[in-house]
Amino acid sequence: MTKQLHLQATSSANGDFAPGWYVVAASNKVETKPKPVLLNGLPLVTFRDSGGQSRALLDRCAHRNAPLSAGRVVSGNIRCHYHGWEFDGAGTCKAVPGLCAEPDHPARRVPSFACRDSQGWLWVYSEADTDPDSEPYEIPFADQAGYLTIRERLEMPGPLDAVAENALDVPHTAFVHAGLFRKNKDRRPIEVVIRALNGGVEAQFIGEERPKGLAGRILAPQGGEVFHWDRFLLPCIAQVEYRLSDRSHIVTTAALTPRTPTVTDLFATVAVKVPLPNAILRTVFKPVAMWILRQDIEILRSQTEQVSRFGAEEFASTEIDVLGLRIKKLLREAASGKTSSAQEERRIKMLV
Ligand code: FES
Ligand SMILES: [Fe+2]
Repeated sequence: MTKQLHLQATSSANGDFAPGWYVVAASNKVETKPKPVLLNGLPLVTFRDSGGQSRALLDRCAHRNAPLSAGRVVSGNIRCHYHGWEFDGAGTCKAVPGLCAEPDHPARRVPSFACRDSQGWLWVYSEADTDPDSEPYEIPFADQAGYLTIRERLEMPGPLDAVAENALDVPHTAFVHAGLFRKNKDRRPIEVVIRALNGGVEAQFIGEERPKGLAGRILAPQGGEVFHWDRFLLPCIAQVEYRLSDRSHIVTTAALTPRTPTVTDLFATVAVKVPLPNAILRTVFKPVAMWILRQDIEILRSQTEQVSRFGAEEFASTEIDVLGLRIKKLLREAASGKTSSAQEERRIKMLV
């Protein structure tokens, strides 16, 4: 059963699906009332049991396959709305109304998925009936003293690798976000160090000036040198870190969850420390961030439509597309069960 589900999950998406922990919802949205979610095309149902523990099962009753998400939770078990079979959070059948014999039987199990509530998000392990040997990614600086932490869920058009590349891509900012970060004129040379990480890759940008656009003025009113890293970490983390002097620090961590071949859920945690009162920061920062994200959603939508119009991706790249191909390679290797042995450290020049 596990194997079959795994195959279903890896082949349903456009691209490679790396097994691991994925965010499927905000923790405060997981209640006793069952809710359906899609993890790489696989329908799951989430709910809280009587102990307040979050649970995720395959959203398919073992009896006649009715969706368990249409049922309800009774005494901590999820009850199917068709014939009333009940399953506990581990997927074991606990009640078959009208049956005189014991309800529990291996053939009546529903596959279950490990769950963790961590840092405001519900994380689900992508392989059914597995006791994972890892824990969900720990988001740096979230809820740390001195940092304002903002969480937001967005629906992004495109497969995970395209959404991750967009989040970590510098060359598009002068065009898609013209005036906000960088401008296409007055470019200056900077150095980019690309490093393999354990299960990921990082690009460090050296020599950038504080962006002249609006976002730069908000984040570092005092100006100064910019320290900037973009990271991708398997299976699903895209992270952008900016340090602008020792007073401004912003770390945006996006947990990306493929829902369908062309839709990726983006669960963003933004930890910000800037020399501005939180009230001002909230009123200014969020609208600007949403404005930027709407521009990204638009370009991702048109890219995704193009790929489907032409039937497949046919990309050309240069060395300043620093992370896109590396992300694809990491995902491809992880999906086929390989662990990357890359020890790369490479320096390139780029005009920003
Ligand atoms: S289909 Fe769920 S109890 Fe019959
Ligand atoms: Fe962007």
